[in-house]
Amino acid sequence: MNQTHQRDKAEFVHSVFESIAADYDKMNNVISFGSHIAWRNYTMKQMGIKPGQTALDVACGTGDWTIALAQTVGPEGKVIGLDFSQNMLDIGAYKISQKKVDNIVTLVNGDAMKLPYEDNTFDFVTIGFALRNVPDIQTVLNEMARVVKPGGKVVSLEVSKPPFKPYRQLFYLYFYKILPLIAKWTINKYEQYAWLPQSLTNFPDSRELATMFQKAGLDPVQVKLFMGGVAALHMGTKP
Ligand SMILES: C[S@@+](CC[C@H](N)C(=O)[O-])C[C@H]1O[C@@H](n2cnc3c(N)ncnc32)[C@H](O)[C@@H]1O
Repeated sequence: MNQTHQRDKAEFVHSVFESIAADYDKMNNVISFGSHIAWRNYTMKQMGIKPGQTALDVACGTGDWTIALAQTVGPEGKVIGLDFSQNMLDIGAYKISQKKVDNIVTLVNGDAMKLPYEDNTFDFVTIGFALRNVPDIQTVLNEMARVVKPGGKVVSLEVSKPPFKPYRQLFYLYFYKILPLIAKWTINKYEQYAWLPQSLTNFPDSRELATMFQKAGLDPVQVKLFMGGVAALHMGTKP
């Protein structure tokens, strides 16, 4: 993707999330049948994050993963949630104060493609359901790998492509055709959700994404598929 296309994609994605922010949490539950919560809980256990540690949640949106990280690191730790949609961050800020973790979390309006942090800063750098949305996946992974400390982990949870073809076709039918209709009926936003599924078309499958983690200098890289591969966890350690 050349720079003009990258800028166009970023502007478009930005406008989508600015417009759906108020409905995002509700739709997230509907779309994944609430499964994203179990996937995140499993991921947190695999990460082994402990009280007092630091984490950066890239493209944090309305902050569900940011909050889970803050509840685990506790008052001795520090979590930064970064996103380029102020409307998503504003909803996140409200939830963070409701959960009383605002002393642990700092929200930052910033770009995942150019993280405003020094090399080797965080114990964990996470990205949830957002790698599909960024202009250049490898740039974002390189940035995440740059700011994580040696021995720290870069973690992605993302929609994926089920390896078993008949099941994949069924999932695509849901994701490409039914999901935008659900968005139309529930929140009257068809276009925004008609585009989101398409973001999967050019997205790497779980093996290809693991290779991109390795290219970012992460090794070893663990992969776990959820529900036959409709979502995947990738976790890479910085040597
Ligand atoms: C599908 S939401 C995921 C939000 C959250 N991580 C979660 O798991 O619910 C994708 C988020 O990525 C953000 N985003 C997309 N591209 C970005 C970029 N280049 N820089 C920062 N945030 C970005 C959007 O604003 C949106 O909040």
